[in-house]
Amino acid sequence: MTTTKRWCPYGNWDDIASSSNEQVIKDKITGIVNYWEPNVIPPEIKSLIPEGSVIVDFGCGLGRNVRSLLEMSSTVIGYDIPEMIEQLNKTEEKSSYTRITSDLKEALEGAHVVYDSVVIQHIISKEELLYIAQCIQESSVDWVVSLNYKGVQWNEVFLSFLNWEVVHIQEDRTTFRGTPHILRCLRRPQRRE
Ligand SMILES: C[S@@+](CC[C@H](N)C(=O)[O-])C[C@H]1O[C@@H](n2cnc3c(N)ncnc32)[C@H](O)[C@@H]1O
Repeated sequence: MTTTKRWCPYGNWDDIASSSNEQVIKDKITGIVNYWEPNVIPPEIKSLIPEGSVIVDFGCGLGRNVRSLLEMSSTVIGYDIPEMIEQLNKTEEKSSYTRITSDLKEALEGAHVVYDSVVIQHIISKEELLYIAQCIQESSVDWVVSLNYKGVQWNEVFLSFLNWEVVHIQEDRTTFRGTPHILRCLRRPQRRE
């Protein structure tokens, strides 16, 4: 019997999220010891996203970016694997989210934007990527904003499953102490009836 490998070599997020030491989880999330600055959402992205959009912080971790996302919308949904959501539940950031969940379909309900800060780049299972892309495709989401470490190849598998147009792309050196990242904004080509 073949089993699909879920985790990329960077780490097993079930195990990471199960740590009893919050700092260990934070260090692994950012990949930089004692670094916990929120991402800066550049004006180019803010001007693309319609006002009042409901944003899903996809793979929200311990809520590092919730305050940045709240600058764009008052409704931010946190979504992550169950073990991470359990950890997020213990933090103050939890209450900054409108709701948090480990159920993707529930997270996407009524949403307009998926914000992916270094999450999709960690997902290597084609089945899982296909499932995520399908859920987004079938949802009310029209925008995907995705930040990836520059050294990591953009996830072509995810993009080909979703097949949305990249309407904005820029290098981001404001986050993660200036280590180069690429920020992309994808837009649904045409809203179905
Ligand atoms: C590098 S951390 C980034 C966390 C957060 N987005 C940030 O920038 O602070 C990756 C996050 O993706 C989550 N993750 C990994 N695989 C996932 C999956 N298949 N579905 C949802 N979240 C996942 C992990 O639990 C972790 O919180």
